[in-house]
Amino acid sequence: MSKFWGSRFEKGTDKLADEFSFSLEYDKRLAIYDVIGSIAHATMLGKCKIISRIDSSKIVSGLKKIALQLEKGAFKFDMQEEDIHSNIQSALKKMIGPAADKLHTARSRNDLIVLDMKLYCMDELTTIIDLISKLQKSILSFAEKNKDVIIPAYTHLQAAQVVLLSHHMLAYIEMLERDKQRTLDAIIRTSSMPLGSCALAGTTLPTDRDFVTEELEFLTTTKNSIDSVSDRDFIIEALSSLAILGMHFSRISEDLIIWATSEFNYVNIDWGLCTGSSIMPHKKNPDILELIRGETAKLYSNLSEVLILTKGLPLTYNRDLQLDKPPLFESIDKIKQITALMAKLFSSLKVNKTHLAKRIEDESFYTVDLMEYLIKKGVSYREAHDIIGKMVKECLDKGKKISDLTKEQLKIYCQKFEIDAKKLLNAKSSVENKKSYGSTNPKLVEKQIDSWNEYFKQ
Ligand code: ARG
Repeated sequence: MSKFWGSRFEKGTDKLADEFSFSLEYDKRLAIYDVIGSIAHATMLGKCKIISRIDSSKIVSGLKKIALQLEKGAFKFDMQEEDIHSNIQSALKKMIGPAADKLHTARSRNDLIVLDMKLYCMDELTTIIDLISKLQKSILSFAEKNKDVIIPAYTHLQAAQVVLLSHHMLAYIEMLERDKQRTLDAIIRTSSMPLGSCALAGTTLPTDRDFVTEELEFLTTTKNSIDSVSDRDFIIEALSSLAILGMHFSRISEDLIIWATSEFNYVNIDWGLCTGSSIMPHKKNPDILELIRGETAKLYSNLSEVLILTKGLPLTYNRDLQLDKPPLFESIDKIKQITALMAKLFSSLKVNKTHLAKRIEDESFYTVDLMEYLIKKGVSYREAHDIIGKMVKECLDKGKKISDLTKEQLKIYCQKFEIDAKKLLNAKSSVENKKSYGSTNPKLVEKQIDSWNEYFKQ
């Protein structure tokens, strides 16, 4: 076991305290970032003549070997080590001898852990953006496959108006696009290189921090050593992006759970993503979607955990900050799983077209279209609302359909009615007559589908 400190300690640390404080169990996933960051740092130390070129290249080639071992899964983590930094350090020393002792010059674990975490975040968030794109594509091809399907849409969970199923799917794609942009924003702000801030005050050694920034392809170098080692905003931003994404997943899940009930019967979820009941043989439960909806709680609590952890912490580094890792890692792992599962779900989702066609025969979906028919003939919105309201009530009371009314009966409600008004009482006309930009008009939706297809081709 090699500790970075210890020389002024009168005795070894307590075994229980070690067990309590060691982080290798979870921070070992940072290994490759620790190595990559250290390669850039050692190169800089050599270039600035802070250590000899020979020592610098010894360190770099040792670290490259460790990177290779990590890639192959052959690196042996020593669980007696305190954290990932000391583990890499001691592995390097075993490999190259005393030159390894020079690696930790002009840096501290306080700036190093921020560097590792930033590299990790940027990498994982980029993967998540790719996964979201894959999911969007899977939703888009589901939308295209069912381009002509019309569904009842809901407000207050009460049947409202009809829309194209593909229009509803494009709403999901919009939500996910915002998630990608939010995540990208988080990456851009994360991309500020902290190494060389050392413990908190910087160093007397002639380092070149911008060189490390370039080597590691960060956008900028952090400007304040105190802020560099204290800042955990990037973790909170990553977690909040993931929490919002999780909220979207929970809403999509809820839509599909409702749509898959026998009462709604819009869709069939693939058997592979459902489970049965141990007692009720007829059941097909959407457990995966329910778990996705449920896991959102964890994504929220991980965000609040780090917000609570950092609240009121004095600048600069405090050991509490070690505890930012488990919640971040958990949210990243969960979101990756959920996003991939969602993509699978949409690629195997089936639509119950016959049932939907029957459902949209209900003429109450078209009352707004009737209202707008009158408005186009000069009737005020208020009056039109009253006229149609009265008409719907009387038809319902008498168990009649609006389309059963004759021209004369229609005229009793309003002189402006002509027989062509009855042509509005079907789903196809309802969507086709929509005109506003962003509406469910099939031509406009088609255009949106085309532009998303174009976008995903790039
Ligand atoms: N394991 C620590 C963390 O995750 C690394 C930094 C430790 N620094 C220190 N001064 N004890 O935050």
